[in-house]
Amino acid sequence: MSTRQEHQKTMIKNPPSNTIHFYVNGEAHTVANPHPDASLIEYLRSTGLTGTKLGCNEGGCGACTIMLSHYDHDNKKIVNRSVNACLAPLCSVDACAIITVEGIGNTKGMLHMVQERVANFNGSQCGFCTPGIIMSLYTLLRNNPYPTEHEIEHSLDGNLCRCTGYRPILSAAKTFICPSSGKPCNCSGDSKHNKDEPQFEDGDVFDLRGKKHPLFPAALKQYDPRSRDVIIENEQDGIKWYRPNSLEKLLEYKREVLEQNMNTILDNERVQENNKQPGAIRSPLRALPVQIRMIVGNSEVAIETRQKAQVYQSYVQPTTIPELCAIKPSQEGIEVGASVTLGKLTDYLQEEIRKVGKDHYSMRAYISILDQLRYFASTPIRNACSLGGNIMTASPISDLNPLWVALGCTANILDIDNNSRTVPMDQFFLSYRTVAVDPHREILHSLFIPKTQSAMEFARPYKQARRREDDIAIVNAGMKAVLTTVDSQTMIESFHMAFGGMAVCTISAKRTQDFLRNKPLTDDTFQQAIPFLIQDLPLSQEAPGGMIEYRRSLTLSFFFKFFQYLKFETIIDPHHQKQVDTSAITPLHRTYPTGTQDWDKTNIRGTSVGKDEKHMSAHLQVTGEAKYLDDVPKQSNEVHACFVLSQKPHAKVTNVDISVAKTIPGFVYYADHTDVEALGGSNRVGAIIHDEDLFVTDKCTSVGQIIGVVCATSLRIARQCVKLIRIEYEELSPVILSIKDAIEHSSYQGDNHHVTRFAQPDVTTMDELFTKYTNDPDHVLVEGDFFMGGQEHFYLEGHACLVIPGEQDELTVISSTQALTHTQCCVSEVTNVPTHKIVCKAKRIGGGFGGKETRGMLYAAAASVCARRLNQPVRLVLDRDVDMGMSGQRHPFMTKYRSLINKKDKKIFAIQVTMYSNAGFSLDLSQSVMDRSILSFDNCYHVPNVDVIGKVCLTNLPSHTAFRGFGGPQGMMAMEHIIEHMSFALDVDPIALRRANLYDESNHFTPYGQIVDYERLHRLWDQIMIKSDHQNRMESIQQYNSSNRFKKKAMCMVPTKFGISFTASFLNQGGALVHIYHSDGTVLVSHGGVEMGQGLHTKVAQVAASVLGVPLHKVFIAETSTDKVPNTSATAASVGSDLYGMAVQNACEQLKSRLDRFQSSRNVNYASWEELIDAAYHYTVNLSAQGFYKTPDLHLNWDKGRGTPFSYYTYGTACSEIEIDTLTGDFNILRTDIVMDVGDSINPAIDIGQIEGAFTQGVGLFTIEELIWGDADHKWVRPGHYFTRGPGAYKIPSFNDVPVEFNVHLLKNAPNALAVYRSKAIGEPPLFLGCTVFYGIKHAIQAARRDHGVNEYFCLDSPATPERIRMTCCDDLTKRFTANWPMKNQLIDDRLRDLDVSDQELDNMKHVQYRANGSY
Ligand SMILES: Cc1cc2nc3c(=O)[nH]c(=O)nc-3n(C[C@H](O)[C@H](O)[C@H](O)COP(=O)(O)OP(=O)(O)OC[C@H]3O[C@@H](n4cnc5c(N)ncnc54)[C@H](O)[C@@H]3O)c2cc1C
Ligand code: FES
Ligand code: FES
Repeated sequence: MSTRQEHQKTMIKNPPSNTIHFYVNGEAHTVANPHPDASLIEYLRSTGLTGTKLGCNEGGCGACTIMLSHYDHDNKKIVNRSVNACLAPLCSVDACAIITVEGIGNTKGMLHMVQERVANFNGSQCGFCTPGIIMSLYTLLRNNPYPTEHEIEHSLDGNLCRCTGYRPILSAAKTFICPSSGKPCNCSGDSKHNKDEPQFEDGDVFDLRGKKHPLFPAALKQYDPRSRDVIIENEQDGIKWYRPNSLEKLLEYKREVLEQNMNTILDNERVQENNKQPGAIRSPLRALPVQIRMIVGNSEVAIETRQKAQVYQSYVQPTTIPELCAIKPSQEGIEVGASVTLGKLTDYLQEEIRKVGKDHYSMRAYISILDQLRYFASTPIRNACSLGGNIMTASPISDLNPLWVALGCTANILDIDNNSRTVPMDQFFLSYRTVAVDPHREILHSLFIPKTQSAMEFARPYKQARRREDDIAIVNAGMKAVLTTVDSQTMIESFHMAFGGMAVCTISAKRTQDFLRNKPLTDDTFQQAIPFLIQDLPLSQEAPGGMIEYRRSLTLSFFFKFFQYLKFETIIDPHHQKQVDTSAITPLHRTYPTGTQDWDKTNIRGTSVGKDEKHMSAHLQVTGEAKYLDDVPKQSNEVHACFVLSQKPHAKVTNVDISVAKTIPGFVYYADHTDVEALGGSNRVGAIIHDEDLFVTDKCTSVGQIIGVVCATSLRIARQCVKLIRIEYEELSPVILSIKDAIEHSSYQGDNHHVTRFAQPDVTTMDELFTKYTNDPDHVLVEGDFFMGGQEHFYLEGHACLVIPGEQDELTVISSTQALTHTQCCVSEVTNVPTHKIVCKAKRIGGGFGGKETRGMLYAAAASVCARRLNQPVRLVLDRDVDMGMSGQRHPFMTKYRSLINKKDKKIFAIQVTMYSNAGFSLDLSQSVMDRSILSFDNCYHVPNVDVIGKVCLTNLPSHTAFRGFGGPQGMMAMEHIIEHMSFALDVDPIALRRANLYDESNHFTPYGQIVDYERLHRLWDQIMIKSDHQNRMESIQQYNSSNRFKKKAMCMVPTKFGISFTASFLNQGGALVHIYHSDGTVLVSHGGVEMGQGLHTKVAQVAASVLGVPLHKVFIAETSTDKVPNTSATAASVGSDLYGMAVQNACEQLKSRLDRFQSSRNVNYASWEELIDAAYHYTVNLSAQGFYKTPDLHLNWDKGRGTPFSYYTYGTACSEIEIDTLTGDFNILRTDIVMDVGDSINPAIDIGQIEGAFTQGVGLFTIEELIWGDADHKWVRPGHYFTRGPGAYKIPSFNDVPVEFNVHLLKNAPNALAVYRSKAIGEPPLFLGCTVFYGIKHAIQAARRDHGVNEYFCLDSPATPERIRMTCCDDLTKRFTANWPMKNQLIDDRLRDLDVSDQELDNMKHVQYRANGSY
């Protein structure tokens, strides 16, 4: 036994109360006096276990997932849970065994089968999310070697991936339910037939040195944490952690703290009185009362301390108190201890239902709880967070509290003198985050949950969120009804319903409940109850969270659903049951996603090109060995930097007071614009034109601009100092936030580029054309405007950099940037260091998507200023909310249009559009983004007369920037919107209209004059029609819709064409450096592109291998660095493999030709590559070559709006079938087929990964991802502030949003002569195809509207959020809320008056304010 283990054993036997003991990957750890605020992830990463990633620090992304195990001493079993290491307090893991991704397998020894399969199925691109996903799956399999499909999908509900689109991960995971271990699964997925064949065996864990340890340490079975208390107090700040092992001690501690606080208050009052005495010498007040917080899962407390700057002096962990951790069954129900985790409650209820039978009436309450828990947070959160924590948080949108109220639960409360009392849950929630528990004197002991008591008692939960999985509710509800039969009529004996999201706290619909009592269960009763429900749940127009009409409609929808459910359940005769439309009751149907990937497997060129090689870093990523910026070890003397940011959208900064921050021990330096001046650098920066200050000099023009940087010895201290800096402002006007504001103030920037084509000889201007042909009977005019929202990049690794100063002013800048040369130049200008002394490097970055093209250079420059001033290494890692709040997003667009279409031949005749983008406070890349929108507007359609103008709006928002597609999706989306509008006006199928207007033989020039490969386009169109089985499926959709009133399906097909090249021609160049080493013939390639998950390095290595004729493993790609390949363009515009593939090809061909010449001059046939290289070296052949490539023949004249800006186009088509719930706005993608033209693919696996990932990102863009800024439409957010910061509020697609069937086909026989190895670029083009889901949704809404007799045209802005879906479905329920405000206000006032509501009550209802969600 090692000394360390012996020490641990002694410690465990006789532990001091200020230490905690736990195991990490089999190794014993004892930590004395950990800081009570320290998280587990901080600790793990500080010990070198950097495989666990910090993606968000708020429990919302899953990158930090680890397995936490403990020994259940009562039941003598090991309990394994996946938990978020970012939320778990370090102090809470005493007596636990932690397994991180490094512990389960590694590249030096053996990969764990979960790691291997995820790698083999290409489930990892940038790899930042991968360790978390691996650990979620690992924990699932550790607990359940034979999971079902549902269990697999469910176990991943807390993990986000922004790159892969999830399908490959699900395919990898599915192999665990397949008998053919490790192979793709073609079986039915039935897990039963392989029960005898264990696929997941107990194994060992590995420490960082690769040494094996048993999975669960024996020592922990001996150590019962209940045997002692833990008391930790931090010396510096006095913050305390207390884990009492009995209820008595907990209450005693509360009593002590209360007494202490009372004394402090009395003292302070006395001091205040004394100070008031004339001539008194003022004595200081004593410290404020001690704030203590009980803490279980920390999922709420962490948000309070990190995001709301709340400080608690003491944390009490009640997880070793038996009474609080027990579930006690009785005849009537269960009593659940407040510290019971939701995971444990789930397991208990499942077991109970399994025992009693799910059809037994007594289980209905339990089933409704389980159904709500299914979509409550995520598995790791439920595994950690407690029932009591959720109740006591009293969030207005808690998912469970409405259910506790409706089910008639009671809270058991204990006071410090051990007196208990019970409070019915409908009297528990008093006001905003205030409950019927005295926080100083009482604790929540437990909750009693009654079983459903009779066969006529029914209960259901409801919840609607932006995203189905791991999202807080917009509105939720719990409902329970007891029915009776009187004279063969079903009567309502009692009815209980409570709602979340409709008031400052969980609220019961009391008037409605009263009204419903003793009423018959009929449609009339339902209709009569509606006004009462409206009255019970008022919401003022300014209520935080917005979506007022939607939220109010949802309450009626849920009520309707429950009513239908009751009717369905109580009709005994099955024939009559059919009278209830079950489409109102059943949830959207999803099965485990499946899909096919299809490509030409014979098209292999050379040794590697054309093969589906897996990502070169796949094994490093699945084991957590892949290094990202913040994994670079701490440098000696390193400091951490943290930004001080502007908090006003337009203001003069009149004073910055850092005096308090400077007093904090660990504060090192504060830098601002004066430091740039001191260095002799330039504070004016910008991506193209230098139009912004790096550090605000006197005026800020947006929230989130950098005023200064604090450097401190730790990130925690740096953050603390930033909070203590006081900034004074003098507010300025105007504040221009939205596109509408900018139009009103004529606030534009950039050049107003436009493209015009005019085919009509009989008119001379567009105005003339529209005047003449609008009245022409052959033409139909459509006009309007269309808004498309922006998108947050949500790369899993945020912006980060590390700047290391060297001798003679040298700077090494390691940065998570897509643009190393840009960063190098910016650092040079700002720090006044010549470029040749600055080296910028990146090994890999955890996703970029355009978000790291320009904004990151500012952050690196700011850190470099500090590094130069301090002559110390500076690390800057942006917190997720800071990153999202300051670094800009995809530009929101608004398009105003008018268009004419010929009625007879259905050909578009003319379109005139003005596109407006919201660019924020500086130009950044906004002009280029707008240019691509203009050039992409035509999409795949010929428009003879067209005029496209782009206006870039200057607003007081952070500067919006590049995002995958770079304006292309915005332009094409405008066109598709117009097509849809025209098809509505002509009453023709939009698919037919699209086909009729595709570029063709006689019309294949774009408006700016570039040729379109119309034949390929037509091939793609024809193939998607066949592959999607369009005809047959359309018929079955129609049948489905005719028999389902409240669910509608639809299918939509859209083509895309994406121009490949930077639109600024000079950027289309790339360099490479290739060395061959004589000792073993290995090849080292350096090139100018950054690997960010897109597989660039893998493709480039394949090119090198094929050109040189060596196996792929001989080639290694070095990190990207400006001292190897200079003057690089950003890795962007999809052209990475085109440029660097060609540059590497060029270098390799030089080497190849030197080697060929050498061979023939020697007239020797060397037996092997290694021999050839060694001989060449000895005969002094140069084995190093520099390669270069520039894309030829690109030009564009914006004055004329003509040119050939693109090397070629990548084309694709997609078809998606979706289903919507018309009552809630929820939707589901049933099937997507994509046919994509990637030329002759260099690597089909990587290309398919790009297609699936981009498509999924497109689905997010066009559906659930909604940016919310404080502007006229969101008055509940501070002006210019970004609300949707972080995964809690901003939702990207999750595992549950993958198309249920997802088929990707690469077009065969489609070589492209214009790119490396006849391939095509693929990174961005498929993203737009996500709009097939948007238009599918729109058609489904149209079907729903028709059912309600609403036939007029409607505009659906993007994204198609559940709110927009529900509200445009406009039925009898929504109609009550959709009249225009303030007219609507009046209407509701009138309606309420009809209901005899007092003026005072009415006023209260209209002004009810509440916090929209628990955390913000
Ligand atoms: C990523 C994420 C997703 C989420 N999703 C959802 C969701 O979908 N639906 C939803 O409803 N909620 C959601 N939440 C909120 C979450 O469920 C609650 O924060 C959680 O239930 C709180 O439990 P906890 O044990 O973590 O509480 P903690 O953070 O440990 O404590 C919360 C509060 O409860 C108090 N407390 C705990 N036990 C007692 C006791 N016995 N007596 C008195 N006070 C006590 C604590 O002092 C503290 O004030 C989410 C949170 C996160 C971070
Ligand atoms: S970092 Fe922990 S969930 Fe995102
Ligand atoms: S691979 Fe999942 S976020 Fe990049």
